[in-house]
Amino acid sequence: MKIAVVGLGHIGLPLAVQYASRGHNVLGVDVAPAIVEAINRGESPHADEQTLIDRVHGLVADGRLRATTWEDPAGVREAEVIVVIVPVVVDAERQIDFNPIDAATRDIAANLGRDALVIYETTLPVGTTRDRFGPMLATVSGMELDRDFFLAFSPERVLVGRVFADLRRYPKIVGGTSDESTRRAVEFYRSALDPGTEVTQVASAETAEMTKLAETTYRDVNIAYANELARYAARHGIDIMEVIDAANSQPYSHIHQPGVGVGGHCIPVYPHFLFNTDPELRLPPLAREINEGMAAFTVDTIEDRIGSLDGQSVLVLGVAYRGDVKEDAFSSAFRLRDELLAAGARVFAHDPYFDGEHLRNLGFEPYDLGTDEPIRVAVLQAAHAAYLELDPASLSGLELFVDGRNAVEKAPYERAGVGYVGIGR
Ligand SMILES: NC(=O)c1ccc[n+]([C@@H]2O[C@H](COP(=O)([O-])OP(=O)(O)OC[C@H]3O[C@@H](n4cnc5c(N)ncnc54)[C@H](O)[C@@H]3O)[C@@H](O)[C@H]2O)c1
Repeated sequence: MKIAVVGLGHIGLPLAVQYASRGHNVLGVDVAPAIVEAINRGESPHADEQTLIDRVHGLVADGRLRATTWEDPAGVREAEVIVVIVPVVVDAERQIDFNPIDAATRDIAANLGRDALVIYETTLPVGTTRDRFGPMLATVSGMELDRDFFLAFSPERVLVGRVFADLRRYPKIVGGTSDESTRRAVEFYRSALDPGTEVTQVASAETAEMTKLAETTYRDVNIAYANELARYAARHGIDIMEVIDAANSQPYSHIHQPGVGVGGHCIPVYPHFLFNTDPELRLPPLAREINEGMAAFTVDTIEDRIGSLDGQSVLVLGVAYRGDVKEDAFSSAFRLRDELLAAGARVFAHDPYFDGEHLRNLGFEPYDLGTDEPIRVAVLQAAHAAYLELDPASLSGLELFVDGRNAVEKAPYERAGVGYVGIGR
């Protein structure tokens, strides 16, 4: 089968490699010439996992995989299936930005072959596949949906760094804009994923779109509940971690972890895809508000312990959105910094994954561990492994350690005469 994958990012390239590994001929399309050139040289532009790096070379050499930009889109017209995995994000005002995927859709439409099946895998607001992309594809191509071309949505549920294993592990959810589109998409995934992978057909493209938003928003709501419980525990002198561990020993309880905030491309973003377009939803926006309020709660917790932060030096440990990832997208470090600054603190940041220049570009004053610059408070924002064994003595002047991820042992801090406080413990 001839397949085109549009968007050769951290997810798109492994997908292209997966399909080519099953014997299909895959053309990848990206707007970034450096990505396209690297692939055509037989090199993976992303060093996310060894399988990806290993396979690109052989597949390109065998002629199963090649890449192009939209400057040379001829091969797209021959594709029987086109998989689209170009990001949709929210901007600083949390408005949904369709520009990159709209541009990709117009280019696909201008190069769409008769009888082709277009499958969107990018996480989308419900109705986008049918109501936004369907008409764009039809108008620009001059073809009719479900007669001349077919259209489906299938959410991508994998994690970067373990895409191939996740593709085998998680059922592939598939919903088309018609029964025929669904049938074709199910057939495609059966031949493009590894044998034995479960392909689950759902009623419509909208069902498939909502499935992805439901599973990601579930995590945001669950974390908000954990954060509410943590605040309750703090008011009542109870350790929330002991409560969650004990509660989750009952198999119907799956309470997530409280913390200083929720970051990353997905969890803080996709709830907006639900409630920006439907004001009747009450719980997801409240969960967002609770999770975004955890930075202010953390600052209040510090002030309860040491008094006003005006003029005090505070170190943010970890700017990444979570432990041991080199990724700062929608990190709660930004809100924490802003709340600390609003309280009058002098804010410094350290992150083993980012150099000083990167931290400065993100609006943080870099801090070197081991310097004499005194720090009164340190807040663990991302639980990088390097911080779990941190020697309290390496932070000169440290009076209070705030464990924003409830991840470190408090004993070394207590032994060093440094105060320790977690989120709800
Ligand atoms: N990153 C994840 O962990 C993850 C996990 C599951 C699902 N997803 C889904 O995958 C989507 C893509 O994520 P990613 O991590 O691969 O993103 P990415 O930023 O790594 O890659 C996106 C690629 O699309 C390319 N692109 C932009 N506009 C284009 C256009 N008009 N035509 C062709 N290519 C274009 C970019 O140059 C880039 O290479 C996300 O938006 C999300 O919906 C991501």
